[in-house]
Amino acid sequence: MKTIIEPFRIKSVEPIRMTTREERERLLRAAGYNLFKLHSDDVLIDLLTDSGTSAMSAAQWGAVMTGDESYAGAPSFYRFEAAVRDLMDFKHIIPAHQGRAAEHLLFSLIANPGHVIPSNTHFDTTRGNIEAAGAEALDLPIAEGKVPSLEHPFKGNMDLEALARLMDERGDAVPCVMMTITNNAGGGQPVSLANIRGAAEIAHQHGKPFFIDGCRFAENAWFIKLREDSQQERSIKDIVRDTFAVADGMTMSAKKDAFANIGGWLALNDDALAEQARTRLIQTEGFPTYGGLAGRDLDAIAQGLTEIVDEDYLRYRVRTNAYIAERLDALGVPVMKPAGGHAVFVDAREWLPHIPPLEYPGHALACALYEEGGIRGCEIGTVMFGRKPDGSEEPARMDLVRLAMPRRVYTQSHADYIVEVFEELAKRKDEIRGLKIVKEPPMMRHFTAEFKRL
Ligand code: F0G
Repeated sequence: MKTIIEPFRIKSVEPIRMTTREERERLLRAAGYNLFKLHSDDVLIDLLTDSGTSAMSAAQWGAVMTGDESYAGAPSFYRFEAAVRDLMDFKHIIPAHQGRAAEHLLFSLIANPGHVIPSNTHFDTTRGNIEAAGAEALDLPIAEGKVPSLEHPFKGNMDLEALARLMDERGDAVPCVMMTITNNAGGGQPVSLANIRGAAEIAHQHGKPFFIDGCRFAENAWFIKLREDSQQERSIKDIVRDTFAVADGMTMSAKKDAFANIGGWLALNDDALAEQARTRLIQTEGFPTYGGLAGRDLDAIAQGLTEIVDEDYLRYRVRTNAYIAERLDALGVPVMKPAGGHAVFVDAREWLPHIPPLEYPGHALACALYEEGGIRGCEIGTVMFGRKPDGSEEPARMDLVRLAMPRRVYTQSHADYIVEVFEELAKRKDEIRGLKIVKEPPMMRHFTAEFKRL
């Protein structure tokens, strides 16, 4: 059959409150044109993030009821640990309340001033935790990964030559090599098994550990199965196990590829480092068998991990984004190609050339999508990255709008509606106006800044 159906039925629904265009214009104005300040029940289709927004399955809700809330040694922890280890066979699995807490644990222990930590592309919170430890977070994506319109099967790959050069020149200053799968900040693009193995080998040749930020590991494995030589006959689980077999540890946000609404973990093979991490965990997150989570959260994650490697799910998941991207492309809307695993990225700078980067074309498009159709996406561009530490401003490398798909939440008619909103916008895109910032904090301004339309 050509039609890839949602491989689930819906048993429990959340109504969407319909709003009018006038209402949305008023609400957005009142929110200072900052989409983070909207009440989410004023949003029709919320594509702000795929993080923590998954629909849990009936089996996950069932598992929630078996959660054991003992302070120490709860069976929920052992079920969680076994489920993680079934996919990622690390010696120490340390739960944390979300991905960034795992990153904080790791980098507060291994990163110091003068250090440099390479990655294909660090996610913002990873970068933040590395920089907070006084170290430098260095992105080494392949050249193809920097051009939105270019097709490449593994655009998330790391530039291994650049990595080898860095290790030769500054290896002593590198405490670990990191790889983010899929590469979120680079458009949700996958990393090949060959590239993961290559990066691990270079790290190990220099006696350095190799860590994976595995937030979207199952989507990455699906792309490997589809696109990498001789992987077509292999199971997702085998590909996942191979992916992590070359790593010395991982950080994870269970809010992505574990179908959970909260949670994460740090996994390590190094006994001494794990002991330090657990000590720090007790200080900041909680006892090592719950790590800032309720027992029921650990059970939801354990069940979610068994569901995320399902091929019918992954086929539908990745196809949803590809479908939207293809239809937008046909409308002449410039999208990142090929479509990523968890989101569709629209190149707003290219689509709205009349808006200069310092008038925030990405943000202007995100606001227009809300007003036109109640869709909430997220600017990834000059609002997010344009402000320098000295308060000056310069255009970001790109001005994109990310439409991130919550897992198992929206259906094909929602996808068609998203495309139709773009179709309407396309008719009068030249009338979309830029914005200026009227109020902003000194850092991470995109969350709280306020704007005026020009
Ligand atoms: N690493 C990657 C690749 C991520 O995408 C995220 C979160 C994190 C780490 C941090 O995990 O949120 O559990 O602390 N990404 C979300 C997003 C917020 O919208 O892309 P967390």
